[in-house]
Amino acid sequence: MIAATIRGRVMRVVHVVSEVLPYCKTGGLADVAFALPREQAARGAQVALIAPLYAGVDRARHGLRREPLTLSVPLAGRQWQVGVWRGQPAAGVDAWLLEVPELFDRPGLYQDGDRDHPDNSLRFGLLCHAALELVVRARLKPDVLHAHDWQAGLVPFLARERFGGLVESVFTLHNLGYQGLFPAEVVPQLGLPWSVFTPEGAEYWGQFSFLKAGLVFAGRVTTVSRRYAQEIRTPEHGLGLEGVMQALGPRLVGILNGADYSEWDPRTDPLLAARYSPQDLSGKAACRAHLLREFGLEGVPPGRPVLGVVSRFVDQKGFDLLFQALDELLALDLVLVALGKGDRAYEQGFLARQQAHPDRLRVRVAYDNPLAHAIEAGADLFLMPSRYEPCGLNQIYSLRYGTPPVVRATGGLDDTVRDADRHADGNGFSFAAYQPRALLDAVGRALAAWAAPERYRAIQARGMLEDFSWPAPAQKYLDLYDELLQNGIPLR
Ligand code: ADP
Ligand code: GLC
Repeated sequence: MIAATIRGRVMRVVHVVSEVLPYCKTGGLADVAFALPREQAARGAQVALIAPLYAGVDRARHGLRREPLTLSVPLAGRQWQVGVWRGQPAAGVDAWLLEVPELFDRPGLYQDGDRDHPDNSLRFGLLCHAALELVVRARLKPDVLHAHDWQAGLVPFLARERFGGLVESVFTLHNLGYQGLFPAEVVPQLGLPWSVFTPEGAEYWGQFSFLKAGLVFAGRVTTVSRRYAQEIRTPEHGLGLEGVMQALGPRLVGILNGADYSEWDPRTDPLLAARYSPQDLSGKAACRAHLLREFGLEGVPPGRPVLGVVSRFVDQKGFDLLFQALDELLALDLVLVALGKGDRAYEQGFLARQQAHPDRLRVRVAYDNPLAHAIEAGADLFLMPSRYEPCGLNQIYSLRYGTPPVVRATGGLDDTVRDADRHADGNGFSFAAYQPRALLDAVGRALAAWAAPERYRAIQARGMLEDFSWPAPAQKYLDLYDELLQNGIPLR
């Protein structure tokens, strides 16, 4: 283990991110942005994070304080006054939240219904510029600026411009499906020189790409599983950026996310109807009964397995495939309970199917954290048929909760789930082809295992005993920073 030091003093890291627990969350990014800094601080690094202060954040509940500091940031022909709030999301982690009501006080973080906020380039451009300004004004003096996803994509370039080689930058790609693409005219509005707008720079087929800016100007690029780091180098998953990924060579690495077991562990989870452990699973039955009550399915007999889904309802997660397979799936002896929110077409599709099969399918269109925990614990199997999946946290949670996952073998799903029909130490079920038949086959095999209690228990136990906790990945990031600080950028 390398201690979190550089030239004999504590290493300083500043994360820039658009969502972070406990303040705001739409998906796994917020889980990672909370747990990774905490774990880095626990390993001796000095860690801060910078994020927007959105309308929904309860300042009193989270103990946020207004700093006696207002940033003045020029952007898009205006001088923005940015209020600065501070909090401590975890021991040793300083959160700096940026207040610009005109830009961040919206009900949806990125979207209004199905539509992206029209001024997202300005909103997140301001996040990046203000983050750099804050770094200077608050004297954070980072060794490494760590930017996450497209919303923080300008940070590596701005850091180079402002600090030269004094501050290194790392960019983590959590999802290539969201690129932050805008018309070319945003380039000057974002305070950027036209020299960034080239095919080697941040231009993507005539548009400006926040994501590509992050990829090409960062000292190192990471993504959230090894498998996804390979996949995005191919035309199938690279979305036209595979050449950029290939050119990154060894500067692009995959580091599998951890799971935060202080929130997601059935031994201690206060949100469950009962606690349980691999040694004593009896509480899981109470969780199942609670889950069925929550969905008004009290009548489901013990012999009928419950399949759970918790997901953003978007194309990435494989809902077109699930819908193609749904009639056949619901004809099997099982019930499907799904929690999610997202594209209206999927929300309505689920609700319509629920009307047709009320005893087999129940859907909750909502964002509901306690119910997400109830599904992880109370279901017998967990379904995640993603079209692509950079890492995926839900299947890692379901392993811990003794709810074997049935997944499509892609990205992080493939790095975490081993099919029990193909591996002696299998912990779930997986399928490769993005086809209804393949999904149905994997579910069928999972149901067969469920019907054989001893075998099912062995699969469950293997998943529950696995360790996907944060110390190992957090250390990998620290090692990466260390290597970057020693070698600088020449690996390019
Ligand atoms: P992604 O980040 O692509 O959405 P992940 O599996 O990495 O996928 O993380 C999703 C996270 O968001 C998990 O913590 C999951 O429990 C949570 N989540 C997703 N949808 C909901 C929902 N409707 N209600 C509550 N939690 C949700
Ligand atoms: C993204 C990905 C998901 C990943 C999460 C956290 O939202 O879709 O696979 O787990 O980021 O890295």
